[in-house]
Amino acid sequence: MVSIKTVAVLGGTGNLGPFIVQELVAAGFTVTGVTRAGSTNSTPKFPDGLAIKSVDYESVADLTAAFAGQDAVVSVVATAGIAAQKVAVDAAVAAGVRRFVPSEFGINTRRVGGTPIGAILAGKIAIVDYLKEQAAAHPAFSWTGLSTGLFFDWALERGTLGFSVKDKTAIVVDSGNEKWQASNLPQIGQAVAGILSHPDATANQYLGSASFNLSQNELIALVEELAGTKLAVTRVASADIQKKGEEKLAQGDFRAFIDFLHVHNFADGAGNALAPADSANELVGLPYEDLRATVESWLKKAGAL
Ligand SMILES: NC(=O)c1ccc[n+]([C@@H]2O[C@H](COP(=O)([O-])OP(=O)(O)OC[C@H]3O[C@@H](n4cnc5c(N)ncnc54)[C@H](OP(=O)(O)O)[C@@H]3O)[C@@H](O)[C@H]2O)c1
Repeated sequence: MVSIKTVAVLGGTGNLGPFIVQELVAAGFTVTGVTRAGSTNSTPKFPDGLAIKSVDYESVADLTAAFAGQDAVVSVVATAGIAAQKVAVDAAVAAGVRRFVPSEFGINTRRVGGTPIGAILAGKIAIVDYLKEQAAAHPAFSWTGLSTGLFFDWALERGTLGFSVKDKTAIVVDSGNEKWQASNLPQIGQAVAGILSHPDATANQYLGSASFNLSQNELIALVEELAGTKLAVTRVASADIQKKGEEKLAQGDFRAFIDFLHVHNFADGAGNALAPADSANELVGLPYEDLRATVESWLKKAGAL
């Protein structure tokens, strides 16, 4: 039976990382924040008193030394650092780390190989493939991938969920009835802590977690009810969005990702809500959250209530 007590977190200074660090610390793990040599992100972003190591991410030797004594490595590195995680995986194996959690935290990349969105996510797919190889070759080493769907509270704050209370407008893909997977950032931190607290049950698996599965229509109805206003809905066909994305990708424009993401989540019949069989929530007993409470709290913060 594997026991995980010490955890190194790479990229813990960005949008998601601080929530993972916070929830790991709250769950009783001994956390070390690892940042890229030369980065100035760590001082404002890591909690007071956290052990911090500044490391050259291109050096297996330096990362191996940084990982000595760590039971697990959680990578929350930016998209730009996805491919470079291979060095961190090699270092984790060399240092005797038992579990590696790669920087996934989005759509389930195991399901999109051979598709246009899979082409954009090829770096993530390759790292999980590499982790599988390493775990097969080194039985003491293991991995867990975590898909979280959309960062929901983060997207609400950034206004990227396709509606505006201020302008009283919403854009809806197809019927708007398709359910999709979404997670609030603290919940993702709790999911990672839950996975590392149940190392045997979660070894060598690609799991998902979610605060909730919801549809665009549910979200709009809730916003309308809570804000006491009607949103004027414009409908767009997923086939048109997909075509636009493919045109962008053909020109090397990776902003196509957003078009493909909308189709992946919202298109009628997409089928990418989190299924219980794929769910870390079910496996580690992580409660789902209340959509209404999340939206209400955001509307209050945004001054719309
Ligand atoms: N599901 C969603 O809606 C959603 C939204 C956004 C992101 N994501 C995913 O969540 C994960 C984390 O994203 P994030 O937005 O939290 O990341 P981020 O804020 O862009 O960056 C996280 C940290 O990565 C480190 N970093 C930056 N560039 C790097 C590079 N070239 N190589 C290695 N490390 C680098 C930095 O830490 P140091 O300076 O301390 O080294 C940075 O603070 C990614 O896998 C991303 O694809 C998902």
